[in-house]
Amino acid sequence: MTTKMNRQSIIDAMAGLVGPENVLTDAHDMAPHLIDWRKRHTGVAACVVFPRSVEHVSNALAYCNDNGIKVFPQGGNTSVCGGSVPDASGNSILLNLARMNRIIEVNADNNSMTVEAGCILTDVQNAALAADRMFPLTLGAEGSCQIGGNLATNAGGTNVVRFGNTRDLVLGIEVVLADGRVWHGLRTLRKNNSGYDLKNLFVGAEGTLGVITRASLKLFPKPRAMATAVLGFESVQAAVDEGLKLQAAFPGELVGLELISQSEFEISLRHGVNMRNPFDATPKWMVLVELAGATGTSEALTDRLTEALQDSFDGGAVQDAVVASSGQQRADLWHIRHNVTEANGHEGMGLTHDIAVPTYRIPDFVEQAEAALAKHYPQAVQVIVGHMGDGNLHYIAMFTHAYWATVEDKRGVQLKLSHLLYDIAAGMGGTFSAEHGIGALHVPEMSIYKNASEVALMRQIKQLLDPRDTMNPGRVLPAA
Ligand code: FAD
Ligand code: LAC
Ligand code: ZN
Repeated sequence: MTTKMNRQSIIDAMAGLVGPENVLTDAHDMAPHLIDWRKRHTGVAACVVFPRSVEHVSNALAYCNDNGIKVFPQGGNTSVCGGSVPDASGNSILLNLARMNRIIEVNADNNSMTVEAGCILTDVQNAALAADRMFPLTLGAEGSCQIGGNLATNAGGTNVVRFGNTRDLVLGIEVVLADGRVWHGLRTLRKNNSGYDLKNLFVGAEGTLGVITRASLKLFPKPRAMATAVLGFESVQAAVDEGLKLQAAFPGELVGLELISQSEFEISLRHGVNMRNPFDATPKWMVLVELAGATGTSEALTDRLTEALQDSFDGGAVQDAVVASSGQQRADLWHIRHNVTEANGHEGMGLTHDIAVPTYRIPDFVEQAEAALAKHYPQAVQVIVGHMGDGNLHYIAMFTHAYWATVEDKRGVQLKLSHLLYDIAAGMGGTFSAEHGIGALHVPEMSIYKNASEVALMRQIKQLLDPRDTMNPGRVLPAA
């Protein structure tokens, strides 16, 4: 902790730079910013600073860098890996971008838009829709997360199978570096091979190299037709086989391909509000498939989807299906899917993982993971949800709160289980962190699962851009 005087001098300096009305100091007001969304990580900061302009960010960072004050950037605070709250040192400011939330321009002719980093993702989506365009990034936290946070984490979500990760949706960014310099990289070009692609250093850097203040984003035509269904399967192998067939059958139109286990579907329903099970009996495995068409009607697209599934129905590979026949039914199916993280929190203590393997290896991964869980942690229920089209699974070991309270070495259990799963993924050429990032939680894995030369190169980049370790210390990179 800083001394009281130190804390007061930090507050006074920040108030002088951004205005006292943009600095939170009261413990009660600061509290929601110092604990993460899942209430698993807490931190301390001298104050929460809400810059209103790039100049505010620049002045605050320059001051902090000169005076040894650490800076923890924060967006919507929806990180699920402890990336969005400060550490326990207290010698820091939390810099929240929420007040830099203007949509600067929507250019339908150029299929681009430029926004401030603190814009909430749904506001970005809605501004695009108002111009008859679509910004395709979509995830369960979209009502709270900020586009700056999405860029900083290179967020994935449920449309990646068609549109890519956030990295693929950005044309240019503006960044304030640790020493307060501003890199003006806002561009709206589709092609630009004029030297190193600097923006991709900052996208996915989780705020360790600078603060993203504005971004130019790619827009797409607004779909005219949608077809959405949840298909039921007896085995994960059958689910993956059907998913791969659909990917081949609907190139350019398949926008979502999500896998959900029976356990996860029922947890979401159990803790959801105004939800009902669309199946008479929940299948063991489900695939949520969505198609989007630039022309035609939803009815015609839905007919094409059901026709494509007919053989699999007849052959018994697809056991059951719920096909949305209205926008409301489509929303209801997605609501079950997007409610999982919130529902898991009510259900028990879910140890969540974010692995990726090639999609066709998912059945092998699940078989090996299930065996490891049964052997080492028979108390846990296997819960799976994931972006099947990207080979990305959230593998959750769900313990009851009562059992978890009796576990003495909680971090030990977490590490042992994760490493069992990460070893299985690594054996398939997979990763321990597909879309959520590293944050504070997964720093130990960087030394184990990334090769030493990769980590060394990352350290050199960090040293170049943030030699005083001002930005988000202790995140992403393990200590040297
Ligand atoms: P925060 O959580 O506040 O911060 C995340 C990281 O970004 C931190 O390291 C922070 O320092 C840094 N940061 C934030 N803003 C800036 C900035 N302007 N400049 C530099 N650094 C910055 N993630 C997925 O990828 N796919 C999903 O499907 C998905 N679903 C989710 C569903 C739920 C219900 C929840 C709670 C989370 C989900 N997440 C998902 C995780 C999370 O929503 C994403 O990581 C999101 O991109 C974080 O955005 P945020 O604005 O909340 O950032
Ligand atoms: C999801 C988050 C947890 O896919 O990434 O729901
Ligand atoms: Zn996800």
